[in-house]
Amino acid sequence: MLISGKEISAAVRAELLERTNKLKEKGRTPGLAVILVGEDPASKVYVNNKEKACFELGFYSEKYLLSENTSEEELLALIDRLNEEDKIHGILVQLPLPSHLNEKKVTERISPVKDVDCFHPVNIGKVLTGEGVFAPCTPAGVMEMLKFSGIDVAGKNAVVIGRSNIVGKPMAMLLLKENATVTICHSKTKDLKEHTSKADILIAAVGRANFVKADMVKEGAVVIDVGINRNEDGKLCGDVDFSEVSGKASYISPVPGGVGPMTITELMKNTLLSAEENLKNF
Ligand code: GUN
Repeated sequence: MLISGKEISAAVRAELLERTNKLKEKGRTPGLAVILVGEDPASKVYVNNKEKACFELGFYSEKYLLSENTSEEELLALIDRLNEEDKIHGILVQLPLPSHLNEKKVTERISPVKDVDCFHPVNIGKVLTGEGVFAPCTPAGVMEMLKFSGIDVAGKNAVVIGRSNIVGKPMAMLLLKENATVTICHSKTKDLKEHTSKADILIAAVGRANFVKADMVKEGAVVIDVGINRNEDGKLCGDVDFSEVSGKASYISPVPGGVGPMTITELMKNTLLSAEENLKNF
């Protein structure tokens, strides 16, 4: 069975639109500010997609396209201003930043109550304890896909390949919260296949085209592909060799049209949550 992120994303957005309209009736419109520094073409596409999603849900949005040589002081001053701005409930600084800007310092300057990316250490800490308001967008999108497909993760062996702060680590925490038995594999893992072949649920977040082959996957496993890569022909593909693995998996998500569409939906959900809660601090 194919897990279509496109379809699930549309269903979730319909629900978000209803909640947004209810909130607007009470006089509050969710507001998202997106900041892009520099000219990275992929980042421009992402930022435009975020603006479009705001428009479609009726959110208020502000977009800041700053020049490549913006100073750290200027960027931090903009974040400070947006932290204080009542119309804005979410602030997102598109990564990667140009090398003269300190990503850690910049993301930590965003108030945790407006950190809809869920990158701030305070929010990541709350993901660990399971008490956060915000969920990290990509892993939350994966959980939504599992839930929507009727896959109960409790008691299952879930294996995550990849240990990034944005995907692998928080992914493991969200699976653990739902009572999966979780293994995180990474580049130093010895005998990767031994781990992955025991997975009832396999999440690939490696960043290498067609890395997961059929012989690494258990018959009937649920396989979610977080990768966005280009193959030798320049075609978009995931971390999972779809043509091989789809014959063995019970459920599998494609690339494109899988996790990708979910990430922005979860960003919108975090922004709406922030507006609904209207927190001033934690
Ligand atoms: N760059 C690539 N993905 C993301 C994301 O989810 N958030 C931000 N801020 N930057 C990104």
